Amino acid sequence: MERVLLLCRAGFEGELAAEAQARAAAVGLPGFCRARAGEARAEWCPSPDAELTAGQAVERFAREVPLGELVFARQLLLAAPVRSGLPPEDRAGPLLEIFAGFGRPVDGLVVETPDVDGLKPLQALCRKFAPIFERALGRAGLWCPGQAEHRAHLVFLSTVAAQPALAWLANSSPWPGGIARLRLPGDIASRSARKLEEAVVTFLGPEERAARLREGMRAVDLGAAPGGWSQLLARRGLLVTAVDNGPLDPAALKSGLVEHQREDGFRYRPPNPVDWLVCDMVEQPGRVAHLVARWLAEGWCRECIFNLKLPMKRRQVEVERCRALIDHALDEAGVPHRLAFKQLYHDREEVTGHLRRVDP
Ligand SMILES: C[S@@+](CC[C@H](N)C(=O)[O-])C[C@H]1O[C@@H](n2cnc3c(N)ncnc32)[C@H](O)[C@@H]1O
Repeated sequence: MERVLLLCRAGFEGELAAEAQARAAAVGLPGFCRARAGEARAEWCPSPDAELTAGQAVERFAREVPLGELVFARQLLLAAPVRSGLPPEDRAGPLLEIFAGFGRPVDGLVVETPDVDGLKPLQALCRKFAPIFERALGRAGLWCPGQAEHRAHLVFLSTVAAQPALAWLANSSPWPGGIARLRLPGDIASRSARKLEEAVVTFLGPEERAARLREGMRAVDLGAAPGGWSQLLARRGLLVTAVDNGPLDPAALKSGLVEHQREDGFRYRPPNPVDWLVCDMVEQPGRVAHLVARWLAEGWCRECIFNLKLPMKRRQVEVERCRALIDHALDEAGVPHRLAFKQLYHDREEVTGHLRRVDP
């Protein structure tokens, strides 16, 4: 394992490579990222170093660069080079040799492809190959569910080429492709609701959800129409003020927990502080960043999930500019806080932010 394999949305490889390289450099790991546009993956390789082997450098990357801090990464894997020329009659043999060389027991197996339309036909092969390779890992004594720190990954790039890799359980996504599996009811008012549900399961663990996003809490939804986000919050039992000059879908109002306010989201102020602000207004990212920082600084909410629509160019720079703007505003106001951004599977040309007041 002499490289780190990162998966992302196709078209964002450049952003991912830039942030991975910068994050690694910040923890004293010089290296370079290889990424080709449209491949939905990037590889970070350590620079030759007198003190660390390549294997040690990638282990340090996995331990010191949290996946949660890489905005554009969906998955983080320790990988061998791509194994090409796999014999179709025995793909497992050569791949198993590589895993034997890793010498690590594994807790599970994911057989996947990068999220590229042209590779979708390979998914049938992945499904068929998974049980075959699981048995092969078992015969080799490497299959140790519940007793291992790593999960095996095979990332297929063609019918005869796959990249063997390990995910460190403590710093990887549990979902194939890093794509959260969501269960949403059929009557939700908008497709965009998937973004909020994915944000909730990405940014909040099960206990945090139970404690901080629960029945009886109050939320404001800025840019709420047609109402999918409000509807999801109401399903969790929150009382929601849905702010939008546009009309809400009747489905969003059915619970009786959503109240519609026809008002501009930048002018609206809650009569009393609320627990949550969510914001999906299509606006310049800098304006939204200012707004959410103000809500926290004024004590109008304690926690916030918001979407930033990115410009066509310099997208990573724009995210970092918004991060700096929010941090600066809240530091000036003396508000201890945590801020994270992620490009979710359901985010297209956008990223989702999670901002929270943390009292010492
Ligand atoms: C992407 S849609 C929101 C979809 C919503 N999250 C859902 O799940 O149904 C963006 C909404 O933001 C609203 N919007 C844009 N600028 C706004 C503003 N200044 N004040 C209030 N709403 C605004 C638009 O009217 C539009 O309904």
